Amino acid sequence: MQQLCAGYGQRRVLQDLDLSIDPSEVVAILGANGAGKTTTLRAISGTTKREGQLTFDGQSLLGSSPSSTARLGIAHVPEGRGTMGQLTVLENLQLGAYIRRDRAVAADLERVYSYFPILRERRKQLAATLSGGEQQMLAIGRALMARPRLLLLDEPSLGLAPIVAQGIFDIITSINRDSGAAVLLVEQNAVAALDISHRAYVLEVGRIAVSGSSAELKEHAGVRRSYLGY
Ligand SMILES: Nc1ncnc2c1ncn2[C@@H]1O[C@H](COP(=O)(O)OP(=O)(O)OP(=O)(O)O)[C@@H](O)[C@H]1O
Ligand SMILES: [Mg+2]
Repeated sequence: MQQLCAGYGQRRVLQDLDLSIDPSEVVAILGANGAGKTTTLRAISGTTKREGQLTFDGQSLLGSSPSSTARLGIAHVPEGRGTMGQLTVLENLQLGAYIRRDRAVAADLERVYSYFPILRERRKQLAATLSGGEQQMLAIGRALMARPRLLLLDEPSLGLAPIVAQGIFDIITSINRDSGAAVLLVEQNAVAALDISHRAYVLEVGRIAVSGSSAELKEHAGVRRSYLGY
């Protein structure tokens, strides 16, 4: 995306964002609360107003509704997870595949269960009654059912115990390696985000303040001071 602007009503939140994600890349977005990280993901998935240049596979996304964007292969796991509480785990996963026309859903269900065995055990349980970590697994699993080429993850570790969060980060790495899906990861846990990403952007009040390889950003004095705490 180039010179991408986005906002809500009259309020402009993102100002001329230039950001790119290569196929199979894991890219992290870091930034303080309110910097515009969630808005960036919404601008890509079409769930907020945006203008500028936004392309996927050479095709403009600007006229694309959220559902047609999903059909192009972009899956958005929103902040707060967004699973359907009154449906079971299995029903939520099946819903994730609804945009697909092919019939290979059973194989993908097995793939999701192989990443998250607990979801197989809980498949008949209502999503609303899952623990926070299990709901996050379900939200990611549901996105995988669509076989995305680009996975947008908004704070996947939010509210999770460190060991559960680490498990989620490991699986994000596996998903990227196994399926080649690109990942755009928004995370407060900057240390973990830089560990699992190839490149990263730091957003400050709707603009890109710093960008580079994740290895470079780990050594960047300003990033260390503000986001890594050492
Ligand atoms: N639906 C909305 N309507 C109006 N303003 C909004 C809306 N959603 C977000 N904003 C505003 O846009 C700005 C950026 O919000 P955004 O949610 O993108 O930040 P963020 O970087 O994801 O923050 P956090 O780390 O707290 O999740 C904030 O000032 C916020 O108040
Ligand atoms: Mg956010």
